[in-house]
Amino acid sequence: MTGAFVTLEGGDGSGKTTQADRLERWLREHGRTVVRTREPGGTDLGLELRQMLLHRRGHVDPRAEALLYAADRAQHVATVVRPALERGDVVLQDRYLDSSVAYQGAGRVLGGDEVRELSLWAADGLLPDLTVLLDLDPTVGRGRREGDGTRAAWDRLEAEADEFHGRVRRAYLELADAEPERFLVVDASLGVDEVAERVLARVRQLPGIADAAAPGDPTSTDPAGTGTGTGTGTEG
Ligand SMILES: Nc1ncnc2c1ncn2[C@@H]1O[C@H](COP(=O)(O)OP(=O)(O)OP(=O)(O)O)[C@@H](O)[C@H]1O
Ligand SMILES: [Mg+2]
Repeated sequence: MTGAFVTLEGGDGSGKTTQADRLERWLREHGRTVVRTREPGGTDLGLELRQMLLHRRGHVDPRAEALLYAADRAQHVATVVRPALERGDVVLQDRYLDSSVAYQGAGRVLGGDEVRELSLWAADGLLPDLTVLLDLDPTVGRGRREGDGTRAAWDRLEAEADEFHGRVRRAYLELADAEPERFLVVDASLGVDEVAERVLARVRQLPGIADAAAPGDPTSTDPAGTGTGTGTGTEG
């Protein structure tokens, strides 16, 4: 069985966790082993780096910040993601290099291209098979999170101005435009079920997943039952 690497991207409160939960459930029901992970903080070392990146007080130089994210990524890809893909697992990851490019590059002082290069170096070139971009007006995302009483106090990134989050959103959309075959952009203002349906329609087409969408599958959305995912036209 082939592994598959799927990443979820989007602003705060855009529904990444909600959709990863849905997708994980579907994949498990179809017999797949799923590894849920996130950046920053997907390893022991990464948890320490995450603490520094999100909660440390005082100024962190943008290049230092970029290197801390890259260190987290290097450790995570080498010790968690690649071994899982080699076992044939499906890796569902909350945030990856597109977050770095969108937040550090377009949003801050560094150029997107150099952040991407650094990231790819850290990841030894590993790109996702699919990146789901949950596109949402950042003020809507913030409102959703504030309505969720389980949230802790704002972290450092969240405290940045709305304008910053608007720039991040535009940077994400530019990344998706540049790599349409890797990205699925979903309007995250739709209902949870609608978003999940669009994500699933695309996930089923991945080479590493297609065997889960077998003919006769009662949950199949492929009317021809071919499971080959020639395009249902429901995504995008
Ligand atoms: N499509 C949706 N429509 C309305 N509310 C949603 C939708 N998807 C998720 N939510 C709600 O919005 C809140 C944030 O969702 P979720 O935690 O999945 O987002 P997230 O992108 O993981 O956020 P974070 O950036 O905090 O990790 C939750 O209360 C969730 O129930
Ligand atoms: Mg989340």
